[in-house]
Amino acid sequence: MKLFLCICFLSVAVSAMAGQNDLDEILREGNNKFTAKMFYEVAKANNEKSVVLSAYSVMPPLAQLALASVGESHDELLHAIGMPNDNVTKAAFSFANSKLRSTKGVTLQTASKIYIAENYELNSDFAAVSRDTFGSEVKNVNFIKNAEVAAEINAWVEDQTNHRIKDLVDPGALTSETKAMLVNAIYFKGIWKTPFNKHQTADKDFHVSRNKVIKVPTMYSMDYYNYTESTELDAQILEIPYEGGEASCVFVLPREIDGINELEEKLKDPTVLDKAMSKMHEMEVEVYLPKFKIETTTNLKDILQKMNVYRLFDSKKARLDNLLKHTSDLYIDSALQKAFIEMNEEGAEAAAANAFGIVATSLVINPIKPPVFKADRPFYFAIKTNLITIFNGIKRGE
Ligand SMILES: *[C@@H]1O[C@H](CO)[C@@H](O)[C@H](O)[C@H]1NC(C)=O
Ligand SMILES: *[C@@H]1O[C@H](CO)[C@@H](O)[C@H](O)[C@H]1NC(C)=O
Repeated sequence: MKLFLCICFLSVAVSAMAGQNDLDEILREGNNKFTAKMFYEVAKANNEKSVVLSAYSVMPPLAQLALASVGESHDELLHAIGMPNDNVTKAAFSFANSKLRSTKGVTLQTASKIYIAENYELNSDFAAVSRDTFGSEVKNVNFIKNAEVAAEINAWVEDQTNHRIKDLVDPGALTSETKAMLVNAIYFKGIWKTPFNKHQTADKDFHVSRNKVIKVPTMYSMDYYNYTESTELDAQILEIPYEGGEASCVFVLPREIDGINELEEKLKDPTVLDKAMSKMHEMEVEVYLPKFKIETTTNLKDILQKMNVYRLFDSKKARLDNLLKHTSDLYIDSALQKAFIEMNEEGAEAAAANAFGIVATSLVINPIKPPVFKADRPFYFAIKTNLITIFNGIKRGE
């Protein structure tokens, strides 16, 4: 009897653990695929420009809308974010929400809200799930008062993102025809585990293309990092950790000055970077990395349609039946994302002191010359926690 009970308890404990690992795995895989697809489309839409996006932060609002929809409209959304059914979706996103909020050493602020025209009555169950599972709100607004509504949305976004993200919505984009709008903003602030020395930052060449060189403030460091060289990606890979040890920024630097477009194509495979990163190990690396700020506004409606999420935006095909009290003709008119990132000596945000200085000559005791990671040409970056990629983008030299 005792043994039997014991086995029972054991198997309950084991299956509870498996549950969490499964969620981890489902989220990671869903995020990897969704991020790879969205990155590819956003990079293409911003041809030749630096770009930053957070595919991760688009997943919760899509999950939220999936839970509010039925039929093909519902299945298309779940498929896009890699979720098998509604229950797993709820469990996965409450889990992700709490886990990411508590990532040590970094501040991650996402603001997502669905705005619905005043004549639609919200389903109270949906409002409750939005709030409890996603920590997100749904709100009725009068789109006819476009200037007022845009000001309200923009003030809310600004507030949620430490005043870093402004003017997300253009009043001109709202009309009496607007029925529903999805806004999404994300702001990240991390402090490097080991800051770069400001006195070693200096203007250095950056190869915008094969025949255009500009000068950009470039940080310098010689330290132990996780590093590898990938023949598959034809690139060097370097990981710089943030304080707290749970998040890091991964930089992928093509060997060729104009190798970034080819790298973009390779990163369409959502597993290729993780595979290359599994070969990283700690070694001393000499690092040259430009300081930069990137802000990108993404028309999510365009991008999502290219990713085969289109029913949501189609007045005839959207079936957001559980979002409202009475079944109706609601669809999403527009969806926007604005993401902001800053990299400097102290981390992703801090007072940017532009101290020029003399690069101290480092004493190389190591008889084997450490590899040089010189980011003097367009490169890829991704901010990752052990669970998922939160942000990624491309730094070019416009
Ligand atoms: C989802 O959860 C509900 C309530 O816990 C349960 O009744 C239902 O069978 C579950 N559905 C699936 C597909 O697991
Ligand atoms: C290298 O990666 C391992 C595993 O993720 C981590 O524990 C270690 O702290 C990293 N080392 C450095 C120098 O970042």
